[in-house]
Amino acid sequence: MSLISHSAEWAALTQHQQSLAQTSMRELFAANPLRFEQFSLQLDGLLFDFSKHRITSETKDLLLSLARQAGLPEWMQALKQGEKVNRSEGRAALHHALRFRPDSGLPLTGDGIHAKILAVRQQMQQFVQAIRCGERLGYDGQAITDLVHIGIGGSDLGPRLAAEALRPFLTGGPRLHFVANLDGGELARTLAGLNPATTLFAVVSKTFTTLETATNAQSARNWLLQSSSAANVSQHFVAITTNRQAAEQFGVAPENIFAFWEWVGGRYSVWSAVGLSLACGLGWEGFEAFLEGAAAMDAHYFNTPLDQNLPVLMALLSIWYISFWGAESHALVPYDDRLARFPAYLQQMDMESNGKRVSTEGVALDHASGAIIWGEVGSNSQHAFFQLLHQSQRLVPIDFIVSARPSHSLPDHHPQLVANCLAQSEALMWGKTEAEVRAELRANGLPEEEIERLTPHKVCPGNQPSSTLLFSELSPYTLGMLMALYEHKICSQAAIWGINPFDQWGVEFGKQLAKKIVPELISPHAATEHDASTNGLIAAYRRYVEL
Ligand code: F6P
Repeated sequence: MSLISHSAEWAALTQHQQSLAQTSMRELFAANPLRFEQFSLQLDGLLFDFSKHRITSETKDLLLSLARQAGLPEWMQALKQGEKVNRSEGRAALHHALRFRPDSGLPLTGDGIHAKILAVRQQMQQFVQAIRCGERLGYDGQAITDLVHIGIGGSDLGPRLAAEALRPFLTGGPRLHFVANLDGGELARTLAGLNPATTLFAVVSKTFTTLETATNAQSARNWLLQSSSAANVSQHFVAITTNRQAAEQFGVAPENIFAFWEWVGGRYSVWSAVGLSLACGLGWEGFEAFLEGAAAMDAHYFNTPLDQNLPVLMALLSIWYISFWGAESHALVPYDDRLARFPAYLQQMDMESNGKRVSTEGVALDHASGAIIWGEVGSNSQHAFFQLLHQSQRLVPIDFIVSARPSHSLPDHHPQLVANCLAQSEALMWGKTEAEVRAELRANGLPEEEIERLTPHKVCPGNQPSSTLLFSELSPYTLGMLMALYEHKICSQAAIWGINPFDQWGVEFGKQLAKKIVPELISPHAATEHDASTNGLIAAYRRYVEL
């Protein structure tokens, strides 16, 4: 199969970009007073404004033709039906099935998948209730007060983000803690404030072989067992994994193992038992609302024509900038303290999914796929990296995310926060011309000589594109929608580029090399098998440790 970049639709977009590059968004807004109405969508309380983009109706049509030419509708159907869309690993990608409602009527192939999902959901629900009503006890008969979630990557980022974002909803359950890093500092800091008798560990690992998780779980186990001769692993550890045997070998009681399946990719797994800690914090109803929000986004994605389809439009906008304007990065700026971890979550979701160099058929791409995802909450980020967005020569598309209602009751803050969010997207699009700068300086009474000197420094070119996602409040339901929206957006990008968003062979390569270096750091013999830099660093480390 040939690459999508060799299609007539791709060529048409390349040509269209060249002509549109002569027109600024200011001009596009001036020419079309209905731009906001034409380029915004509303879905279940979520408003997506994409009018501040370098697009016209023609751009939208050409991008939609590209999606059709790339077979996106067929790919969406294959995803929904549980076909093996993860071609390099020969697996389906059924994360959307994890949030299915028994009454949703989603057709799925695959033996008993719904039954399996429902059985684990039931096991989770019982566990959540036992923890929250104090039935689940520690080794000396006290109720569990703290739950430490140990996992990394996809087994950490989603639940950690959701637990932080939904903090106001975490009532009546254990305190939640998350430990991912191989740096023992994170685990040590977490354990320092905890009582082993009332602490439960959830070891979350699809493979149950990931170095970071295995090391942290082992140290947590030692900490627990050293606390008392009565302490035991079976009461204080649960495991969420596809590798039941390894979890049992670790000492987890069979009834405390929660299954998930190879057709759930790690970074798409928060909806499975990987979300158990979150469910313990939220309560079962809250967790179900989170799943329902995601299910609403699934229903929209699978049932809405492409030209009205929110994840598809977001995907096309990203492709537009990466493939046709040469944008290298994409910034995420949530104006919401609770979403501080959203950029980190999307970094894995997007960069691990779309950072690929060959098509699903193994053909080398002749265009970039994926972007560097970065960001930080507003308004903090205004005082950090916004200068570059306003005045450098770089093109950086931005997603602004903002909730109309805050989670707190400090009356003066929220309108100011929202105003800053809207002002930034306006300023970045509109810019400030040389004439405007001169007029402003003149109005301030500056002498002509000073105006001449300052003007070039104060000009802001504008034309920096952004989308704004506005919703009424950040609830479990809204967060579920938002996270599923980005999942579908990212996978749609992959489908149009013709790459596999569900594998991560590069990460596996890095893991292999680390395993080799561990023994070399403690061996009495000098390492000689690496490049000179790596050998030198190993030797230097050993010298420092010996000092
Ligand atoms: O980061 C690489 C990765 O393989 C992710 O895809 C995965 O989410 C993470 O490691 C953790 O893997 P596991 O859940 O098997 O411990």
